[in-house]
Amino acid sequence: HPVDQLILALPKTELHLHIEGTLEPEMMFELAQKNGITLPYANVEEVRAAYSFDNLQSFLDLYYAGASVLVTEEDFYDLTWAYCERAYSDHIVHTEIFFDPQTHTARGIDIGTVISGITRALQDATDKLGISSKLILCFLRHLSEADGKATLDAALPYLAQIDGVGLDSSELGHPPAKFQKLFKRCRDLGLPAVAHAGEEGPAAYITEALDLLGASRIDHGVRCTDDATLVVRLATERIPLTVCPLSNLKLCVVDDLSKHNLRNLLAAGLCAMVNSDDPAYFGGYLNANLLACRAAMDLSASEVVQLVNHSFEASWLPDADKARWR
Ligand code: HPA
Ligand code: ZN
Repeated sequence: HPVDQLILALPKTELHLHIEGTLEPEMMFELAQKNGITLPYANVEEVRAAYSFDNLQSFLDLYYAGASVLVTEEDFYDLTWAYCERAYSDHIVHTEIFFDPQTHTARGIDIGTVISGITRALQDATDKLGISSKLILCFLRHLSEADGKATLDAALPYLAQIDGVGLDSSELGHPPAKFQKLFKRCRDLGLPAVAHAGEEGPAAYITEALDLLGASRIDHGVRCTDDATLVVRLATERIPLTVCPLSNLKLCVVDDLSKHNLRNLLAAGLCAMVNSDDPAYFGGYLNANLLACRAAMDLSASEVVQLVNHSFEASWLPDADKARWR
């Protein structure tokens, strides 16, 4: 299909990518063996077979268990470098990645080990692959605000390597309001904020993320269409939504990709774009997401160009770099 050729050819950014969600089963097994960790699976096929989810929580349970194989600085380097090589083959020229320090510090891994491995790979990706990047520290919303605050304190020596903060994990029952003081502290430190909101949670969580956390970009946000006033606000204020179609499909946020509201978001004038979220778990990296949407929704060339332009617009690249790529 000609639009598929366009998808492959266009330079792109990725703005919603959890580095722990790029852990492919093969690497999970290698690292488990190397680090002497026992996985509840006999082989790679069993891991893949387990990747059938009913909702966000059923995914998160496996995702956090999988991340337990990441121990050394080299492990975080190898994980991140493998993602960067895949990003390169998808013609991603800029990526803004999330990491979940609490998933690792809760197991006794030093936050410096995590940050050093990730940033060393990102620097190599810039030097060897020409991919620029930002690193976003995500707080786990199923944990307390105090735990988040302790995590921010532990990250203070590494702030030069952190470009912003985010909020992820189990959404329902953990509204943005729970983290108001923590995000105020992040703002005072000069860190821009994003937040997962309106994935499984209600549109009201999107409004809270904007008004109570100062989020400048919303991750997922697909449930905004439940609130027409909010949609107008998102369009007027040009608040980007980092939509993740294959994730939404795998986590049963939508039951069929052809019923995804991506096209409606564009038609409503929103700055929405496509991202891969946790590609090792959801069955595809960025190009696979775009190709699946093209096929399911019959996206036009103009819609694909809009999505890719939005990915640059919503990025934290300097304006001169945005102008260079768009
Ligand atoms: N939602 C919430 N938390 C997450 C996700 C997601 O899609 N992926 C990884 N952590
Ligand atoms: Zn996510």
